[in-house]
Amino acid sequence: MKHPIHPMLVHFPIATWFLATIADIASLFTNNEQVGWVAGVLLVIGTITALFAMMAGLLELGKIDAQSPAAKIANQHMILIMTSWSFYAVSLFMRLNGTQLEQPGLIAIVLSVIGFAFLCSAGWMGGKLVYEYGVGIQKDLGNHK
Ligand code: HEM
Repeated sequence: MKHPIHPMLVHFPIATWFLATIADIASLFTNNEQVGWVAGVLLVIGTITALFAMMAGLLELGKIDAQSPAAKIANQHMILIMTSWSFYAVSLFMRLNGTQLEQPGLIAIVLSVIGFAFLCSAGWMGGKLVYEYGVGIQKDLGNHK
């Protein structure tokens, strides 16, 4: 495919994970159990949609010259996002009782916040790939600098 679909797919996990972390933090300040439940649902959506974004990302990764400086940034981006995914997945797992979502405990909330920190740094690297190295938008993929 000429136009990369990765940028189209990343919005779903970014938005849902971000809102999940906000809801997790909010759940610390309210007795409303729905807030924690909403955070759990958002985590489920984010964790699943991220897998699709990862598949599309791997396709883009395969197009980058392995010897180029962009390849190093792409690998860092991938490791950071996989770390983020792992933190969010464990945070989700900790609030699951069978198929039921329970209120998040403090550790699950802390993991969600750490997942968000990794998400931000991964997003920074993703932006670097596109706006500094021209990956996905220029013909000589990743051969800059
Ligand atoms: C195996 C995992 C992944 C790999 C190998 C990968 C690889 C890439 C590559 C090569 C780019 C630059 C070209 C393009 O935009 O298509 C990129 C950009 C980006 N990626 Fe990923 N990615 C992965 C997973 C993810 C996930 C799960 C997210 C979000 C949760 C994400 C967020 C971003 C963002 C925000 C950009 C910048 C897009 C833009 O500004 O247009 N990536 N990624």
